[in-house]
Amino acid sequence: MKSIKAVSHAIFFMFILSLSARCCGQEDLDIAPIEKAEQEALYSTIQGFVGNSWNGSDLYPDPCGWTPIQGVSCDLFNGFWYVTVLNIGPVHDNSLSCAQDLEFRPQLFELKHLKSLSFFNCFQSQNRFPAIIPSGNWEKLASSLESLEFRSNPGLIGNIPSDFGVLENLQSLVLLENGVTGEIPSSIGNLMKLKKLVLAGNYLNGRIPDVFDGMNELLIFDLSSNSLSGSLPSTLGSLTSALKLDVSHNHLEGNLLNEFANLKNLTLMDLRNNKFSGGLTLSLQEMHSLEELVVSNNPLGGDIRALKWENLKNLAILELSNMGLTGEIPESVSELKRLRFLGLSDNNLTGNLSPKLETLPCLNALYLSGNNITGEINFSKEFLEKMGRRFGAWNNPNLCYQVGVISTNHVPYGVKPCQRGVNLLESNSKTELINEDMNETFHFIASTGFSSCATNGFWWTLMEEILVMGLFLILI
Ligand SMILES: *[C@@H]1O[C@H](CO)[C@@H](O)[C@H](O)[C@H]1NC(C)=O
Ligand SMILES: *[C@@H]1O[C@H](CO)[C@@H](O)[C@H](O)[C@H]1NC(C)=O
Ligand SMILES: *[C@@H]1O[C@H](CO)[C@@H](O)[C@H](O)[C@H]1NC(C)=O
Ligand SMILES: *[C@@H]1O[C@H](CO)[C@@H](O)[C@H](O)[C@H]1NC(C)=O
Ligand SMILES: *[C@@H]1O[C@H](CO)[C@@H](O)[C@H](O)[C@H]1NC(C)=O
Ligand SMILES: *[C@@H]1O[C@H](CO)[C@@H](O)[C@H](O)[C@H]1NC(C)=O
Repeated sequence: MKSIKAVSHAIFFMFILSLSARCCGQEDLDIAPIEKAEQEALYSTIQGFVGNSWNGSDLYPDPCGWTPIQGVSCDLFNGFWYVTVLNIGPVHDNSLSCAQDLEFRPQLFELKHLKSLSFFNCFQSQNRFPAIIPSGNWEKLASSLESLEFRSNPGLIGNIPSDFGVLENLQSLVLLENGVTGEIPSSIGNLMKLKKLVLAGNYLNGRIPDVFDGMNELLIFDLSSNSLSGSLPSTLGSLTSALKLDVSHNHLEGNLLNEFANLKNLTLMDLRNNKFSGGLTLSLQEMHSLEELVVSNNPLGGDIRALKWENLKNLAILELSNMGLTGEIPESVSELKRLRFLGLSDNNLTGNLSPKLETLPCLNALYLSGNNITGEINFSKEFLEKMGRRFGAWNNPNLCYQVGVISTNHVPYGVKPCQRGVNLLESNSKTELINEDMNETFHFIASTGFSSCATNGFWWTLMEEILVMGLFLILI
C-alpha cells in the first residue's frame, strides 16, 4: 500500500510540475531555495516520528514549495525558506501519522525558525514504546518557539523538562492528556510571555510552584486532572489578565486565596474535586467578571451567606455541591439574573426555599437535594413545568409540596406532599399515611401498578393524583 501511495504521490507531483512548467514558466521564481541543512533536518526529524520507511526526499523533494507536507509550514527569512510550523499526528487524512516506535531526533533542534511544534495522538503506547520529552537542547529553539503542544499522547511519559524554562518567547505551552509525571518545574515561571499554560490530564504531583508573579499576559491556566497537592500559591493572584483558572480534580488543600480578588477578568474558575477548606473567602465576591464558578466536592465548610452574591452579576453557572455549606440559601442569589445553573446539592443548607428563585429568567437547572431545607415548595406550576427533572430537591426530609397546587406531572421528584393540619412525618418512610383509615386506599393505589417507586421517593401518576386529591378534600 505504502509504495502504491508513494508512486501515486510521485506521479501527481510530476504532473503538477509539468503543468506549471508549461503554463507559467516561472518555476525558478516559485521554487524558492531552502537551505540543504534545513531540508535534511526536516526530513530526519519527521522520519524519527513517522518511521524509517518514510522517504522525505523521495516524496516531498520541495517541502516548502511544490510538494508541501501536510502539517508543515514554511516562511521566508533572508530569501530562504525555513520551517516554522511542524504538526505531527492524525489531524487530517493526509497528516503525518506516527510510527509505534518513534524518537525525537536531535535534528528537531536544528530547525532554527521553528515557531510552532505540536504532537497530537502520536505517542500511543505507554507500555511498549514509551517516549520521554528530550531535555538539553531546547535553548536552540529559545528565540523562535512560540507554541509547544502535546495533546492526547498516553505514551509520552517522564517529567516536564526543566529547560522548557529557556523558551522565553513561548506563548502557549500545552501538555494535555499525556502520561507526564513528576513535579511542575519552577522554571516555567520564566515564561513571561505565556498566554496559555495547560498541563491538564497528566500524572503531575507535588505542589504548584509559587512562580507566577510577572505572568500578567496569561489568559488560560489549566492544571486540572493531575495529582497536585499542597495549597494554592499566592502568586496566582498575579495572573491579572487571566480568563480561565482550572485546578479541578487534584488533591489541593488549604484556604481559597485572598489574592483571587485581583483576578478581575476571570470568567471561569473551577476548583472542584479537591480538599480545599476554610470557607468561602470574601475575595470571591470581588471577581466581578466570573461567569462560571465551580467549587463542588471540597470540604470547604462555612456559611453560604458569607458572600455578597449579588456582586457576581455575570454568573451563569454556580456549582457549590457537596461542600459542607451551612445556612439558608440567601435571597441575594435571586439577583443573579444571568444564572442558568445553580447546584447546591449535598450540603447542610437549612431554612425555607425562597420562591424568588423562580424569578431568575435564565435558570434552567436547580439542584438542592441532600440538604435540610424545610417547609413548602412555593414555586409556580409554570416554573416547575419548565424545570422538569432539572429541579432536584430530594433528600430534604422536611421539605414538601402542596398537593393542590402542583400538577401531577410536575411533582418534584422525591419530595413528599405537604400534610396540612397533621404533623409533618419523618423522612424515612415513603408510604406513610395521612391517616390510618386510608391504608386500604393506598394499597389499592399500589396494586393498580401505576405507582413506580424510585430509590429516593415516588412518582405520582395521574391516577394517584386523583385519588390523593380526593383524600386531601376529605381531610379538610
Ligand atoms: C530516498 O529516496 C531516494 C531517491 O529515491 C534515495 O536516493 C534515498 O536513498 C532514499 N533514502 C532513504 C533514507 O531511504
Ligand atoms: C481586562 O479586560 C478588559 C476588557 O477586555 C481589558 O481592557 C483589560 O486590559 C483587562 N485587564 C487586564 C488586567 O488584563
Ligand atoms: C453536615 O451534615 C452531615 C451529614 O448530614 C454531618 O455529618 C455534618 O456534621 C454536618 N456538618 C455541619 C457543619 O453541620
Ligand atoms: C409558602 O406558602 C405558604 C402558604 O402560602 C406560606 O405559609 C409559606 O411561608 C411560604 N413559604 C415560603 C418560603 O415563602
Ligand atoms: C433539619 O432541620 C430541622 C429543623 O430545622 C431539625 O429539627 C433537624 O434536626 C434537622 N435535621 C438534620 C439531619 O440536621
Ligand atoms: C397497612 O396495611 C398493611 C397491609 O395490610 C399492614 O401491614 C400495615 O401495618 C398497615 N398500616 C397501618 C398504619 O395500619
